[in-house]
Amino acid sequence: MMDESAMNSDVLSGVGIRVFLGKGGVGKTTCAAATALHFAESGKRTLVLSTDPTPSLSHIFDRQRSEPGHEVVKHLFLTELGLEEVRTMWDERFGREVYDVFSAFVDVEYGTFVEFMTSVLPGLNEEFMVDYVRRIALEGRYRRIVWDTAPLGQTLALLGTPSLLARHLRMAPRVYSHLRTSGVRRESMMDVLRRWESLASLCMAFLRQSVRFVMVTIPEALALRQLDDVFRELANYGLKVEHLIVNNVITIADSPFLAQKGAQQQEHLRQLRQRYGQLSITEIPLFPHEIQGLERLRQVAAVLGPGLHDR
Ligand SMILES: Nc1ncnc2c1ncn2[C@@H]1O[C@H](COP(=O)(O)OP(=O)(O)OP(=O)(O)O)[C@@H](O)[C@H]1O
Ligand SMILES: [Mg+2]
Repeated sequence: MMDESAMNSDVLSGVGIRVFLGKGGVGKTTCAAATALHFAESGKRTLVLSTDPTPSLSHIFDRQRSEPGHEVVKHLFLTELGLEEVRTMWDERFGREVYDVFSAFVDVEYGTFVEFMTSVLPGLNEEFMVDYVRRIALEGRYRRIVWDTAPLGQTLALLGTPSLLARHLRMAPRVYSHLRTSGVRRESMMDVLRRWESLASLCMAFLRQSVRFVMVTIPEALALRQLDDVFRELANYGLKVEHLIVNNVITIADSPFLAQKGAQQQEHLRQLRQRYGQLSITEIPLFPHEIQGLERLRQVAAVLGPGLHDR
């Protein structure tokens, strides 16, 4: 019989999953939405998923916010998870068992505990999201999953935390052993820890093997400087970025103002091509309007092109 992880990798190999990363405001949601629309319009059942606490996907698609997984366009399903949804789901999936461990040595009421965990512990929401996306992918209902993330500061925590909580929890038995001596409770706590650790490694393997990373940036000095750090951090976790999207590139400089700005951008673009020449780089022009609605998303999708869209 096939073991579970072999079966999982079978299912996952049939799902194309892309995650869009980048600092605040560079166009992650726009690029994610355009990519998802392209997949849907080529007949692939696609989920576009936002884990940004202030989601804007519905707005881009010109729709009201609605229940997770509703169909916005034929074949295109949209899920926006704000802090409340994430908190509820985290609570349902993990809350009780983590609370059991913590309540062994911290006297805290359950509701307060969940609120504390989901808002204070860095990256906990994002860690949970990796598990959430992984489970959705395993259900096999979508052929493409496009995952729009929160701005980088928060998303990077996503990478560090699959093992963070396990590490936190590993300290618990030591503290715990000073407080209580019941063998049964202690055993169950060790079980929780082991389950958490194996979940953390499943999530990491999922990110490494089944998720393609797309970095979005703009041709500005600060954005460039941050990129190096992010690439290094990703590499530390064995994660590779495949595509780099450079957004907001000035292509028509019909004023001295734009000409000067455009010349500065060209310098940054030159550096980007030099530093990241091994990646596929796509430049998206700065449009004279915001990107909202299907027509404008299609324009962006056309620029993103087959390099990003398929395989
Ligand atoms: N190439 C472009 N030309 C013109 N406007 C653009 C372009 N790309 C994005 N925009 C606009 O810039 C704004 C920010 O884009 P978007 O929401 O996609 O960024 P984001 O990286 O997801 O932001 P956040 O970090 O806040 O989630 C939006 O109003 C969008 O319409
Ligand atoms: Mg966004």
